[in-house]
Amino acid sequence: MSSHARVDLHRGDITRLPVDAVVNAANSSLLGGGGVDEAIHRAGGPTILAECRELRGSRFPDGLPTGQAVATGAGDLPARWVIHTVGPVHGTTPDGAQRLADCYSHSLEVADEVGARTVAFPLISAGAYGWPLEDAVRTALTTLGGTRTTVETATLVLFDEETFRLAEALRG
Ligand code: APR
Repeated sequence: MSSHARVDLHRGDITRLPVDAVVNAANSSLLGGGGVDEAIHRAGGPTILAECRELRGSRFPDGLPTGQAVATGAGDLPARWVIHTVGPVHGTTPDGAQRLADCYSHSLEVADEVGARTVAFPLISAGAYGWPLEDAVRTALTTLGGTRTTVETATLVLFDEETFRLAEALRG
């Protein structure tokens, strides 16, 4: 029975959260990078990258398209799954806003497929991909609160105090 997830805010490091699934702000190569991507691979260990390589050798030979999402195991993380999604790089595609929203809705779809009930999301595209903070937060809150899902709790994880306060203000 799907409805809408409760949306919580959390300030801290997403790799520490004891949730069913952690969403990774990946790039299309699925082979790691900086920011959240680096933190998840570092904390989760090599099995996550091994599964990503398998995905590149099978379902996604050309990489994971922007806006799409795919699950792997979570290695040594407290979580059971990592859901990798690729955000748009700000200012590069006319449909970037839709692609950004797709990252959240498609990650929820993947969470539904694997049966995750609690999912933690970083602020996708708001770091290296340069998305303006306020729009990144609004897109996350609107999409996470507005997508039908069997996920019970979606936690938006903000890495610094400024962004956390902004999210609190925008959520009301
Ligand atoms: N926990 C939670 N949030 C974090 C963490 C962490 N450990 N580390 C960084 N963040 C925050 C950043 O402060 C930013 O607000 O996650 C948000 C997303 O930033 P990035 O990780 O840079 O992701 P993104 O902007 O989507 O760029 C993706 O960067 O890391 C590479 O491989 C990745 O090429 C891809 C690109």
